Amino acid sequence: MTIKQALKLASGKLRKVTDNSWIDAEVLLCYTLKRNKSWLYTYPNKKLTPGQYQSFQKLIKHRLRHEPIAYITQLKEFYGLDFYVDRRVMVPRPETELLIDEVISLITALGNVVTVADIGTGSGCIAIALAKHLNKIKIYATDISSSILRLAKKNARKHKVLTEITFLKGDLLHPLKNRKIGIIVANLPYLATKQWLSTKPDIKLYEPREALDGGKDGLDYIRELLYQASKRKDIKAITLEIGGKRQTNKIKKIAKKYWSKCKTKIKKDLRGLDRVVIISIA
Ligand SMILES: C[S@@+](CC[C@H](N)C(=O)[O-])C[C@H]1O[C@@H](n2cnc3c(N)ncnc32)[C@H](O)[C@@H]1O
Repeated sequence: MTIKQALKLASGKLRKVTDNSWIDAEVLLCYTLKRNKSWLYTYPNKKLTPGQYQSFQKLIKHRLRHEPIAYITQLKEFYGLDFYVDRRVMVPRPETELLIDEVISLITALGNVVTVADIGTGSGCIAIALAKHLNKIKIYATDISSSILRLAKKNARKHKVLTEITFLKGDLLHPLKNRKIGIIVANLPYLATKQWLSTKPDIKLYEPREALDGGKDGLDYIRELLYQASKRKDIKAITLEIGGKRQTNKIKKIAKKYWSKCKTKIKKDLRGLDRVVIISIA
């Protein structure tokens, strides 16, 4: 079977589980052949060896069981960088890149802030993207699980920023008890449990629930984070990824309760949904 035929056949099968069946087929064939997309289109009539064909079919079967492409290839691009991922961590999402942009402009605006804490680091994508784009910044990255932190460190090593990030295990701000921080950035679980229950199988069957389910209204973790932050005197700003307007209003209320003079700013994602909240405290 040729490359062109294999792509056509695979894409036809994958249509059952995804709207991006052609792209998924391309990615999986590139992964099988260890070649890039332009190579596929340079040699569309090249024949797959029986071994290559078998490996490709195996990957297609995984995808037909709804396994996300990123877990199959163990790779996801985020903010121009490739991250190793597996089922321990949520696959980095493009909308989270908004958070990075906001933290970078906050730091530029505040000028003298030198410490950022990424709370719930997962794959490490936020802390690592910041480390790659900012100089002279101290970065902490925390998560509740040691196994997840090992994965994040693997990514930091890959991108040569391991020594620039301090990884700490623990609940939200607890591991940072005796350390000064200026900016908090967090993409914590924020789906309401009901929303999590109705996510598509790609998410529900494969991504860790602990990374996504934020309780009844999705705000269990964010509420606790803001509470913990309110007990400290060092924090100048908090940037959070959130899941829409209903959460914005609740977060604004909580923020005003803890910091009566704070200012909040909202950034929308490409679909027009409230996606990032920036709480400026001082
Ligand atoms: C939505 S994922 C985000 C991962 C990554 N920051 C990203 O943007 O792709 C949330 C992360 O928060 C972590 N987490 C959940 N509860 C936590 C807690 N109480 N303290 C610290 N991290 C927690 C999860 O293990 C998960 O890695």
